Amino acid sequence: MSKFVIEGGQKLKGKVDISGFKNAAVAIIPAAILAGDRCIIENLPNIEDVHVLGRILTELGAKVEFNPEKKTMDIDTRGIVECYADYEMAKKLRASYYLLGASLGRFKKAKVAYPGGCDIGTRPIDQHIKGFEALGATVVLEHGIINVEAKELVGAEIYLDVASVGATINIMMAACMARGTTLIENAAKEPHVVDVANFLNTMGADIRGAGTDLIRINGVEEMWGCTYSVIPDQIEAGTFMIMAGATGGDIIIDNVIPKHLEPITAKLKEMGMEIEEYGESLRVVSPQKLKKIHVKTLVYPGFPTDLQQPMSSLLTQAEGTSIVTETIYEGRFKHVDELNRMGANIKVEGRVAIIEGVERLSGAEVSATDLRAGAALIVAGLMAEGTTELDNIHFIDRGYDRIEQKLLSLGAKIKRI
Ligand code: EPZ
Repeated sequence: MSKFVIEGGQKLKGKVDISGFKNAAVAIIPAAILAGDRCIIENLPNIEDVHVLGRILTELGAKVEFNPEKKTMDIDTRGIVECYADYEMAKKLRASYYLLGASLGRFKKAKVAYPGGCDIGTRPIDQHIKGFEALGATVVLEHGIINVEAKELVGAEIYLDVASVGATINIMMAACMARGTTLIENAAKEPHVVDVANFLNTMGADIRGAGTDLIRINGVEEMWGCTYSVIPDQIEAGTFMIMAGATGGDIIIDNVIPKHLEPITAKLKEMGMEIEEYGESLRVVSPQKLKKIHVKTLVYPGFPTDLQQPMSSLLTQAEGTSIVTETIYEGRFKHVDELNRMGANIKVEGRVAIIEGVERLSGAEVSATDLRAGAALIVAGLMAEGTTELDNIHFIDRGYDRIEQKLLSLGAKIKRI
């Protein structure tokens, strides 16, 4: 198993280019099934989840060509006549559940094994199922396989119990060619929900209101192929903003949508960081000492749960006691034990982490337990005194495109062995 070896203490300087949004890409690639045609997806991140989804679509009968240099994936889904994704396929990533919505929308049926993904707490899909049933599908879960089938999909009014990103996107896909109009109320408003809706509309769907808590989908007769470019990764950009703060750095982050980063910018400014917007770039400058803050993760436009772990690392260096409240997942503090082994002083009480600022972390051998915990431990290694060895970095490769190359170009001392 490869690992990262990080020498702490280097101030990050220079420019980094943000890749396409993982959480948009992992929905848009399966959504291409709806076209039954050829789609060219651009600005894709070169990450494991994208490769895995390309292989899954190929196994289902699509012609898929991923070009990492051009960052494009050419997907012809005319060869897919039905969707059966077994456990071997589906367990590789949580986003395999998007195969349900896309296949239900095109074939009126799908069989997908219960999804896998990061171990950050229970990951139910009851809201996805509630939406599919409201559209007229029957959903049977047996032997770990989710079977959805409908004679006909008819538009419905669906009120989500939680503003679930996955359920919002999955129901949008299933409703595209339903007869009549579907309303999704209490819909998720994350930037990637809007990105997927824009992709579906480019394929001929008729979706209004994405980005608000009420999304209207007017069913259309047919959809077709298109070319579409994925938005920049809000979470990757936020991770680099936090890394600049962790190292007392001064960096330019290119290819971002500043509006999507406002929840992160607001909190980092509260800590004393300077953040300036220049069109599609940010300049992030860290002060000598960081102030403590309180962070509560919420659905967009609140502070994103995916940056809670990297932010927790940064807060170990703030002066005073910070409080982090994780309202989305109950199991998203696995990185805390590893940080405490590096000299942090964090106490977890349920969904709250109490973080006492310390003088400095010290490098140690640590393990990533999930994708964003891995990112949090890179942040810690960059600021710790001495050498940090981080293993289980396959988690990181799932969601960050060439992170060590990007960090090296910013002057960090990191190598993959
Ligand atoms: C997406 O997961 C992201 N994954 C997650 O990012 C992200 O943390 C999450 O959205 C929240 O922003 C992908 O996009 C592939 P949810 P998803 O449905 O869709 C509850 C990363 O690090 N819920 O919004 O699974 C659920 O228990 C990953 O990139 C239900 O109760 O998130 C959780 O408490 C980790 N019933 C909350 O909603 C459901 O049917 C948020 O889940 C669905 C969800």
